[in-house]
Order: sequence, then structure tokens, then C-alpha cells
Amino acid sequence: MAAKAASMTAGARFYTLSNGVRMPSVGLGTYRVREQGALDACILEALRSGYRLIDTATVYRNEAQIGNSLKKIFENDLVPGLTRQDIFLVSKLAPKDQGYDACYQAVQDSLRQLQVDYIDLYLIHWPGTAKLKLPNAQNAINRMESWRALEDLYHAKKLRSIGVSNYTIRHLSELIERPHHSHSYSHSSAESPIATPSSPARTMVIPHVHQFEMHPRLFQQELVEYCQAHRIQVQAYSSLGEGRLIVQTAPLPPPDDPYYNEKPVPGALEVMPDLIRKYFPGSSATLSKKNGMMIDGLEPALISESEYSKRSAQILLRWGLQHQAVVIPKSTHPQRVRDNFDLFSFEIEPSDMALLDSYSTKGHRVRYCWDPTEVR
Ligand SMILES: NC(=O)c1ccc[n+]([C@@H]2O[C@H](COP(=O)([O-])OP(=O)(O)OC[C@H]3O[C@@H](n4cnc5c(N)ncnc54)[C@H](OP(=O)(O)O)[C@@H]3O)[C@@H](O)[C@H]2O)c1
Repeated sequence: MAAKAASMTAGARFYTLSNGVRMPSVGLGTYRVREQGALDACILEALRSGYRLIDTATVYRNEAQIGNSLKKIFENDLVPGLTRQDIFLVSKLAPKDQGYDACYQAVQDSLRQLQVDYIDLYLIHWPGTAKLKLPNAQNAINRMESWRALEDLYHAKKLRSIGVSNYTIRHLSELIERPHHSHSYSHSSAESPIATPSSPARTMVIPHVHQFEMHPRLFQQELVEYCQAHRIQVQAYSSLGEGRLIVQTAPLPPPDDPYYNEKPVPGALEVMPDLIRKYFPGSSATLSKKNGMMIDGLEPALISESEYSKRSAQILLRWGLQHQAVVIPKSTHPQRVRDNFDLFSFEIEPSDMALLDSYSTKGHRVRYCWDPTEVR
């Protein structure tokens, strides 16, 4: 019975947040995509394929381009009937903009860059503040001030929902267990129409969403359960391990990317060929654990990687959905964008879910992105 309920949720195209807002369960990631033409193409492909969520961040430096892409799509009716209200836009506060005033201003900047009147979800990208050492206690003060700015912007209806990203349970519990009388501000912006030190007590907001790294090699079950217990929607990032969970030769990031974990990491999960055989029996590719790939009557070089990648990506993303997470795969290849949305025609059995979960046990765990554990 429990498995059935879980699978029904997993098949959902939308989740309902604790404030009643509907959030699509699959979205397009846009990290490291800045070029206007590339964004125009992958956003259009995504929206035509059924995606309704786009994930960006101030630090991706692509909000303006995403705003331009959407404007072109709406003005030219490139996806017939689609309007701003159909899209769920996610952006994030840069670590350099922590604190009440800077956060308040950063949201105004994001609204302007994206060319919208409201943003569907705004997240504090990282619990720390740029240029502060991880153990510095000021990190905690700054992110609480940022949160107050987000609460005010949420109440002012500039943000339809608010949340955090890369928080540990310790960081989250600070927000959730705040005493209800803590409504004083250390300072407030003169430009802020809502928040003044003399404001009456406001309604505090529990984060609606938490976005963090989650894939079979980093299934943070305790964190997932903590979020679920507090009705915080989990949004998984790097579901494909930045591509490194599915292909043998991972694409290298730009040399200026400060967040990339360059350590050599294990590649594709070895159970994947069996799972692909099981869940995609009609696949034209026959996979062999030993040889990597054997193709029925086809030139392996022509099909192996694309077929293997497609199915692996779908299994990894479906694993996230079956843990009730939102998934946001990033791709600039039209076919991959389409494949990554094709997640609703199969279901991973509980025993295979457990098998995939087991890759997160000690010794197998891999974190591809930044680690917030030491942030005070
Ligand atoms: N909150 C945070 O701190 C944080 C951190 C990291 C990411 N994110 C968000 O999460 C999104 C997704 O994470 P991510 O970009 O790190 O990595 P990801 O989605 O796990 O993987 C993206 C990589 O996989 C490749 N890929 C995508 N679909 C594929 C397929 N079907 N077959 C083979 N390869 C495929 C892509 O290459 P091509 O583009 O060449 O297809 C790209 O190199 C980001 O874009 C961003 O929006 C948030």
C-alpha cells in the first residue's frame, strides 16, 4: 500500500508546496549555460517537450538571457498558448549578497534581469557568505537576515515561494526552530516598502523548498526525511552527477568554475546495464557488464553512448522522482532535453530503488558539488 502511494506521487507532474503553490516535478537546469543562442534553443526545446520549470541563479550569470529567451517565446507564440503564468522560475541569492539589504536588492535585480513581476521560487544558494571563512559565526547572522528579506518579499508577493539550498539539517533547524517573537531587524533598507524596525510582528515562513545535491551516490536520507517531516519540498540537483554518473568521459567544466570538485570520482553505476535491460526491454541496445556495450546488428560506436546515456539518465532522474524530489537535469542537446523529460512511462521497483540507494553507503558516497558541512 505504501509503495503504491509513493509511486502515485512519483508519477506526478506537479507537487503542491506547503503554501498551496504547484511546483513542476521536472525542470531544466541551466548551470554553465550562458550563451544566448544555446539558452534560446534548450529552453524552447524544453518547453515544447513539456517542461514548465527553469532553474537559474544569480551566480550562473544567465538570468538576463533566460528572460530574453522567454520573452521571445511568449511574444512569438513559439509554444502555442504558453504564458508567464505557466512557467515556474527558480533563482537564487549569490553568496556575496547575504544580509537583509543586499538580499532585498538582489531580488530586485533578478526580477529586472529575468524581466518578470514575480519569481516563483527564490532560494538562498548557500548557507555561507562570500569571503567569510566557513567557521565564521557571521555566516549564521547573515543568512538569517537574508531569510527575513525573502520573507518580506514573499509577503509582498514578489516571490511566490521561498527556500534554501545546500543547507544541512543544522542550518535548516535554525530557521525552523526560531522563537516566534524574534521579529527585530538589525537594520532595514530605506527602499524597502515593507520592512522597518517598527513593523508589527510578521508571519514567519518555513522554507517551502530545499535544493541540494541528490543522486544514488549521495542519497542524504536523513536530510530528505527531515524536509518531508517539515513539509519542505526536496529539489534534487546534479541528479546525473554533472553527467559523470552516466558517461565514462565526463565533460570538463570551464577552468574558472570555483565550485567544481575536480577530484577523480567513480563513473557510471555498475548496476545500470541490468536496470536498462529490465526497464527498457525494447531498447535497440543490448548491454553487457563485461564489455560495456553490445548492439544487435548495429555499429556500437554509432549508438552505444547515446543509448546508454539516455536510459541511464532516465533511471537516475526517475530515482529522484520516486524519492518525491523535483529533478532539474541540465542539457543543451535537444535530444537529451527530450529524453530527460521522458520519465513517466516506467517505474523502478522498490528492490531496485534500494539497490540504487545502496550506492550512498560509506565508501561509495560521492559529492560532486560543494560541501556545506563546515559552514557555521
Ligand atoms: N543549488 C546548487 O548549488 C546547485 C549546484 C549544482 C547544480 N544546480 C542546478 O541543478 C542543475 C543540474 O545539475 P548539473 O548541471 O550540476 O548536472 P546534471 O544535470 O547532473 O548533469 C548535467 C550534465 O549531464 C549531461 N547530460 C544531461 N542529460 C544527459 C543525457 N540524457 N545523456 C548524457 N548526458 C547528459 C549534460 O551535458 P550536455 O549539456 O552536453 O547534454 C551535462 O554535462 C544545474 O544546471 C543547476 O540548475 C544547483
